[in-house]
Amino acid sequence: MRLLFISEWDKADLWRDSLQAELPELEFRLWPDEAEPRDEIDYALVWKPPAGVLRSFPNLKAILSLGAGIDGILCDPQLPTGVPVSRLVDRCLTQGMTEYVVYWTIHYHRRLGEYAADMAEGRWRNFLQADTERRRVGILGLGELGRDSARVLNALGFRVLGWSRTPKTIDGVECFHGQAGLADMVSQSEILVCLLPLTAETEGILDAGLFEQMPDGSFLINCARGGHLNEADLIPALDGGKLAGATLDVFSEEPLPGDHPFWSHPKITMTPHMASLTVPSSAAAYVAGNIRRVERGEAPLNVIDPEAGY
Ligand code: NDP
Ligand code: OXD
Repeated sequence: MRLLFISEWDKADLWRDSLQAELPELEFRLWPDEAEPRDEIDYALVWKPPAGVLRSFPNLKAILSLGAGIDGILCDPQLPTGVPVSRLVDRCLTQGMTEYVVYWTIHYHRRLGEYAADMAEGRWRNFLQADTERRRVGILGLGELGRDSARVLNALGFRVLGWSRTPKTIDGVECFHGQAGLADMVSQSEILVCLLPLTAETEGILDAGLFEQMPDGSFLINCARGGHLNEADLIPALDGGKLAGATLDVFSEEPLPGDHPFWSHPKITMTPHMASLTVPSSAAAYVAGNIRRVERGEAPLNVIDPEAGY
């Protein structure tokens, strides 16, 4: 069994060690130096593989994603058909995202950014404390990540709303779905979190039209993909007061170019696509489990639907 690791991410050694601890019989190879002969490669473990490369392995049994989002794989116009693509579902990845969402939700809910600015200027004042049970937090996407954030926010007492493609019933979450449910959900969301996959349907969803439907002075947290946000619409929404703040972890171009206006906008907080990072020592068990499944003749877990795009 041979696995080819294709990623510019610098954690290859950790993956090699973690996977070999799980599957000693697995031969771990690194793209591009160890890719030949190509017909020997059974599995590709990838993050944003160069277009056309995956097609060059004629005996590939599965494409295993190093991340939850697979837009960086599906964008390959020559992606081999008939080879299952499995996305990453992992405890640490989910936990990390929930921590990020909860942190920034509380940051806005408790006005911690304003307090930090006051403290930096030597100003001592208190704002009226908001009632958590009345604070409406909307989550776009109720998949592995959105559901867990919703669960924890609900446990903390927030009023949680969620939006998905198909109807859902989740304890403690007011669920909306489809195009018809979007306006209902967004118009009530004082803090809106994006945890959608990037697909043809969701690209550019965070735009002026959507901001207009949100309550005045609300907040946006985008920790999904840069392509969800119509970047040109954000600064007018912030400057006009429709949005009071935005936290962005992801951008249409990463790293964000040095001259981008987001860097200096006082109402934008940014992080460098780290809302949740894959932890090899934890995720390797899932990847190894998927390889074992395929070797037994079963489909890997969490195979994506290329038509739906997630
Ligand atoms: P899932 O596939 O588990 O969940 C996707 C959710 O989005 C589902 O609830 C799905 O609805 C919903 N959805 C998809 N398309 C639509 C649509 N057109 N309209 C309404 N709802 C839709 O994904 P994950 O939760 O695991 O991950 C979500 C995304 O988070 C990833 O795709 C990735 O882009 C991003 N991510 C970002 C990270 C970061 O560090 N910034 C880290 C990890 C992930 P339904 O349930 O009905 O199918
Ligand atoms: C992912 C990511 O999709 O880290 O897992 O962005």
